[in-house]
Amino acid sequence: MASWLVVSLSALVAAVLLQFLLPHSQKLPVLVGGRVDEQFSDIERLFRDEILPDEREGAAFAVYYKGRLVVDLWGGYADRSALRPWESDTMTVVYSSTKAIGSAMIAMLVSRGNLKYEDLVIKHWPEFGKHGKENVTVDWLMGHKSGIAFLANPMTLEEGNNHAFISQIIENAVPHWPPGTQTGYHAITFGWLIDQLIRRVDPQHRSAAQYYQEEIQQLSQDNDFYVGLPEQLEHRVARITNPQMSESLMGAFSSGLLLAQTMYRYWQTDGLCMKAVSNPVFLSVMSDEIPYNNPRVHQLAQFSSTGIGTARGLASVFNTVLQKNLINRQVYERIATPTIHDIDLVILHGIPKGHGFMHSVHPNDKTKWIVGHPGNGGQSVEFVADVNGGPLVLAFVRNGLKPGLTGLNNYLALRNAAEKAKRRRTEKEEARSQDDAAQQDESVIVTEAGHDPVAAGQDVQVAAGHVEEVDLLFFT
Ligand SMILES: *[C@@H]1O[C@H](CO)[C@@H](O)[C@H](O)[C@H]1NC(C)=O
Repeated sequence: MASWLVVSLSALVAAVLLQFLLPHSQKLPVLVGGRVDEQFSDIERLFRDEILPDEREGAAFAVYYKGRLVVDLWGGYADRSALRPWESDTMTVVYSSTKAIGSAMIAMLVSRGNLKYEDLVIKHWPEFGKHGKENVTVDWLMGHKSGIAFLANPMTLEEGNNHAFISQIIENAVPHWPPGTQTGYHAITFGWLIDQLIRRVDPQHRSAAQYYQEEIQQLSQDNDFYVGLPEQLEHRVARITNPQMSESLMGAFSSGLLLAQTMYRYWQTDGLCMKAVSNPVFLSVMSDEIPYNNPRVHQLAQFSSTGIGTARGLASVFNTVLQKNLINRQVYERIATPTIHDIDLVILHGIPKGHGFMHSVHPNDKTKWIVGHPGNGGQSVEFVADVNGGPLVLAFVRNGLKPGLTGLNNYLALRNAAEKAKRRRTEKEEARSQDDAAQQDESVIVTEAGHDPVAAGQDVQVAAGHVEEVDLLFFT
């Protein structure tokens, strides 16, 4: 009897305490906007009914197929705490998905004959060859094998923006393992290494940022993606929030084995992981502080993690690369297949990667790969040059960061649905051209907050939430 009393009283006390401890946030409506090609309308439904209710803040998803923007969706909040909705032009930091752009620029320089992946870095940058780095190749840099996983030197944001300063500290850096022997995600240094390389091999000696602007952004029909954000666009940037403790715990414990493996490897590598993602402090990720909410960090052009844009703009970058043949066929064949499957010393898992990109198995064809790069909190950009008769580019961005383990689930659900819709569309087109009645269906469905935009009579079920298990822990 007495124990029942204790239990009841404890429950009462807990309930009263929770009233004070739990955040008193309002129940806000799920806002959604955008347009989708009719053939992709089930993605709109998935985004609205499954994805957005699962987002703490806001998100956007865009798909280019055969050069056309066929999905352009956004919703939720650019800053929930300020009741600021995510709008058509809301931009957010995409973290490491920026690396896909840096890697594409290197592939462009290789395509143009300015650089070879086999080149020794010292061929272009002799001062780099100190402290056992003399044999580092461009391929090793791109494969996170140079050993320069982080720069321990304390530095200011101004110094981070000073390429001469960065050049010197990279030259004097001592690799954290013998270069070429192992791979360890160069979470932040990757962007600086690429910038230094581009400044030396571009015939006009432009910075990575300028190369991006002039060689990609200016050719893009939708140029809403920036690396080094112009100050006057700052008001469009969403506010980033960290995962809540409960989300992180759920994420971490959703696979006990994976967690145990990770803990063991973390201990073995002496915390290399945390050092790689927290140096320098003003670009650190996965800390309680979020320097990526600092407008001055937004203005820093760093191809590791400071890319900012809409999902539409990010997808457009790779649509441009593919449509304008900025990467030639031979080089594309090289980057389209991962070359590295080893356990990564920083990520602590073996993610297929190579030439600066990360790869995932094609959802419908296990013999093929999709090329791209995920970003901290579950952002992603991926592309395929030619599958089922056309190039496909997908981009997903969010400001309410998710913990690593579960972060990509929503993106993967959208990607797999898009892939299915694309396949149906291809089949339809083939049937149509056989009937010799080819008639392009250009109709779009426009959605506004509060409306039910989906046309009646959709016969396709989307397998929402059915996603492959993700073996990824950390992205910056
Ligand atoms: C670089 O390669 C040369 C030739 O293979 C070798 O003699 C030298 O020891 C290498 N240097 C380092 C630091 O590994």
